Amino acid sequence: MKEIKKITQGRIARQYKLLKLGLGAGRNLLQSSGQELTDKFKDAINTEVHKIVNDLGLMKGSVMKVGQMLSLYSDSILPPEVKEVLKELEGKSFYLNWQEIQKNIPASTKEHIDITHTPIAAASLGQVHKGTIRESGEKVAIKIQYNGVKKAIANDIKTLKLILKLAKVLPKGKKLDPFFTEIKKMLEQETDYVKERTNHQLFADLLKDDKSYYVPKIYEDYCDEKVIVSEFIDAPHLRELSNSNLSLEDRNKLGLHFFDLFMREIFKWGVIQTDPNPANYLIRKHKGEYQWVLLDFGATKEIPDSVQDNYHRLIFAVINQKMDEFVELLFELKYLQKDSSFNKELFQEYLSTVSEPFSGGVYNWGESDIPERMLKLAPKVVKELTIDQPPQDIVFIDRKIGGIFFVLKELKCEFDPNLITDNYQDLNPANDE
Ligand SMILES: Nc1ncnc2c1ncn2[C@@H]1O[C@H](COP(=O)(O)OP(=O)(O)O)[C@@H](O)[C@H]1O
Ligand SMILES: [Mg+2]
Repeated sequence: MKEIKKITQGRIARQYKLLKLGLGAGRNLLQSSGQELTDKFKDAINTEVHKIVNDLGLMKGSVMKVGQMLSLYSDSILPPEVKEVLKELEGKSFYLNWQEIQKNIPASTKEHIDITHTPIAAASLGQVHKGTIRESGEKVAIKIQYNGVKKAIANDIKTLKLILKLAKVLPKGKKLDPFFTEIKKMLEQETDYVKERTNHQLFADLLKDDKSYYVPKIYEDYCDEKVIVSEFIDAPHLRELSNSNLSLEDRNKLGLHFFDLFMREIFKWGVIQTDPNPANYLIRKHKGEYQWVLLDFGATKEIPDSVQDNYHRLIFAVINQKMDEFVELLFELKYLQKDSSFNKELFQEYLSTVSEPFSGGVYNWGESDIPERMLKLAPKVVKELTIDQPPQDIVFIDRKIGGIFFVLKELKCEFDPNLITDNYQDLNPANDE
């Protein structure tokens, strides 16, 4: 991690920095066009990777977050130069020094909690410090939001869109506004720490009797609009946990539970935590059994009944490999235009890729190359879709499903997912509890 003293703030400063970044000091921009401009953009990136990463690190906020989201798709839609930047950005985290960040913590919280000055994690919108409550000795995690990131969202997104368009980084001829609108909405939500705590508590309530999962307790008295204090859980992330520590049986159980959680979210509760980043989960042994510790409810989305119903039909058409039904649904849901010709083979490929684990019997998730194949296919599929009046949720559901595949792969578990999906053939199994 790299310490920084200040985040670039102010509308003009951020816009300027972004433009400079994207266009290699913006030289000759107006005289350039087409391929020439794209080449310039690439050259600028190539010569300045480290500088760009550094500047993005200083900007934090939307720019970094969108960068991280794009990097998911970087293999397929972004030029290798941009990918280079995003890869380096991912590997580095910048954190704001204590003197600055502590200003955002309420005085009474600082009074009652001893806080370690170096953070345990730093992300795009905030950073997390470890602390101890003086009176009780309880260990806590304190998530602190950066100043100004909320205010900067709208403008950052606007500038980012402009740059990506100018640089012709985005696929041609697509109306991307709905996607940017959706990303903007999500960023606004992720900076709403009050809402995050409500969603955190919602999941805690929903899962309170289920020992396969644990949601850390929130210390509401120490929180405010920019600070969330939760019970610190001393457990590793999946990445830090060597698979050899877990028996195949443990891994299979964890995998099943991970998959089942998604099914419950989408089909039972209609509430989805849409950020499947593996850093949002810890694994701990509790009373002899492994359980998932769920962190970070910033990107939790409620889906309306109608959307839930549509996804049910769509996902089961995929699971049961019903190509005709799948395509029919894509038309009905206006993902595709009725009169448009579309790439049937591509959708067939997508369907057979995603449905592979459901072909029957135990599936070896560790050996699966579906995540990579899906990431290659997804942008092509997105290009085919009519996204003028779309269910934009697809961006997030797609990301979530991709994320689940990644986690199961990393877990190297083996199980038949039909064992779980069979329980959700009927929508809303909520009432049989
Ligand atoms: N209650 C907690 N116990 C232990 N570690 C935590 C806790 N909360 C957060 N962390 C650590 O901080 C990281 C970032 O927290 P998260 O809530 O995901 O923040 P962000 O919204 O910035 O992604 C997590 O990946 C985890 O390592
Ligand atoms: Mg997180």
